[in-house]
Amino acid sequence: LSEDLKTRRVRVRAGAGYDVEVGARVLGRVGETARRALSEHARRVALVSNRRVFSLYGERVLESLRAQGFEVAHWLMGDGERYKTLRTAEHALAFLAGSKVGRADAVVALGGGVVGDLAGFASALHLRGVSFVQVPTTLLAQIDSSVGGKTGVNTRAGKNLVGAFHHPRAVVVDVETLDSLPPRELTAGWCEAIKQGAVGDRRLFEQTRAFLSEESSGAERRRPARGERLINLVAAQVEFKARVVEGDEREDVGRTDARSRRILNFGHTVGHALEAATLYRRFRHGEAVGYGMLAAGEISFRLGLLGASELELLREAVRLAGRLPQAVDVEAASLMRWLATDKKAVGGRVFWVLLEELGHARIVDAADIPQRVVLASISAALGAVGNSRRQV
Ligand SMILES: NC(=O)c1ccc[n+]([C@@H]2O[C@H](COP(=O)([O-])OP(=O)(O)OC[C@H]3O[C@@H](n4cnc5c(N)ncnc54)[C@H](O)[C@@H]3O)[C@@H](O)[C@H]2O)c1
Repeated sequence: LSEDLKTRRVRVRAGAGYDVEVGARVLGRVGETARRALSEHARRVALVSNRRVFSLYGERVLESLRAQGFEVAHWLMGDGERYKTLRTAEHALAFLAGSKVGRADAVVALGGGVVGDLAGFASALHLRGVSFVQVPTTLLAQIDSSVGGKTGVNTRAGKNLVGAFHHPRAVVVDVETLDSLPPRELTAGWCEAIKQGAVGDRRLFEQTRAFLSEESSGAERRRPARGERLINLVAAQVEFKARVVEGDEREDVGRTDARSRRILNFGHTVGHALEAATLYRRFRHGEAVGYGMLAAGEISFRLGLLGASELELLREAVRLAGRLPQAVDVEAASLMRWLATDKKAVGGRVFWVLLEELGHARIVDAADIPQRVVLASISAALGAVGNSRRQV
C-alpha cells in the first residue's frame, strides 16, 4: 500500500462522540490524534498491548505519542482470550496506578479485540473512568469491537459477562497492520464483515463479497487500487457498526426491530454453541459465526423468509471468507442444549436473528420455529463447507 492513500474518517455519535480514522500507515499519527482528542491537560499516556503486536508496531506508536510531548509507559498483557480476565484487569489497573495516569490522562489500546476489551475495561475502572484511544490491529477489532463502547472480561460463568460501556475518545485504524495478521484471524474477521452486511446493508454485503471475490482471484492484490478499496471497505464497515450502535447504544433487551443492536448477533446462536461444544479449541469465534450464519440462513430459507438465490449468495460469501475448520463430526443434536443456554436469552426466551433478505434481519422467538427445522438447518450448515483458501 502506498503512503499517500487518503484517510477516511467516520464519526460515531455515541459516548462523547468520536472519530474513527481509517487509513494506511497511520500508526505514526496516533500521537497527533490523541493530542486532538484528549483534554488539553493530558500529559501521560499508558499503552496496553501484547508482546506479539507490540514487537511489530509498538515503537511506532510510542514514538508518535512522544513526539506530541506525552510521557509514555507501556505494559504487555498475555496473548489470547484466556488472558481476558479480572485478574489481568487487576494487573492492568496496578500498571495504570503505578504509571500515575491521572484524570486527564489516557490509555491507548494497541492490539486485537482482547487487548481492546481489556484495556477499555481497565480505563473504565481506573479513577472511575479515564479516556482511552483504540488502535485496533485485527480485522475484527477494526470493523467491530473497537467501535461501540463495549468493554469487558470473561469470567468462569462465561464470555464477556463482566464489563462496562465506555466509549473511546478516538480510534485509529491502520489497515496495513492486517498484512501481518495470520490467515485464520483474517477469515474470522471477514465472517464478521459478511455478517454486518447481511443483517443491515445490502450494499455493504455486496462491497464485501466483491472485495473477497477479487482477492480470491489473486489479481487484485497487485493492483494499486487495492489499498484504497480496502480502506473504503473497512470504513464502510465501521460506518455500519457506528450507525447501529448510535440507534441502540446499550442494546435494549426490549427491542426486536431490524435496527436494534441485537441484529449483530446473527450467526452467534449456533456460533457460540459450536465453540462451546468444541471446548473453545477448534474455532476462532468468527469462524464459528461463519457456520452460525449458514445455519441461520438455512432456517430463514426453510421458514420461507429468505429466497434460495439469497441463501446461495450468503453461502458464497462465507466460502470466500476463507477455509473454516471442518465441523461435519459435530452432531447437530448435541448443539441443541447449548442453544438453550444462549447468554443473549431474554427472560428465559431464546431469539434467533434471521434474514428476510440480504441486508434485512428479523428477530424471531425460538419458540416460533419448529425444532426439526432448526436441527435440519444446523446439520446442513455443518456439512456445507468445502471452501477455498484466500489470503489478504
Ligand atoms: N467489544 C466489542 O464490542 C466486541 C465485539 C466483538 C468481539 N469482541 C471481543 O474481541 C475478542 C476477539 O478479538 P480478536 O479476534 O481481535 O482476537 P485477539 O485480540 O485475540 O487477536 C487475535 C490474534 O492476533 C494477534 N494479532 C493482533 N493483531 C495482529 C497483527 N496486526 N499482526 C499479527 N498478529 C496480530 C493477537 O496477538 C492474537 O494472537 C474477543 O474477546 C471478543 O469477545 C468484542
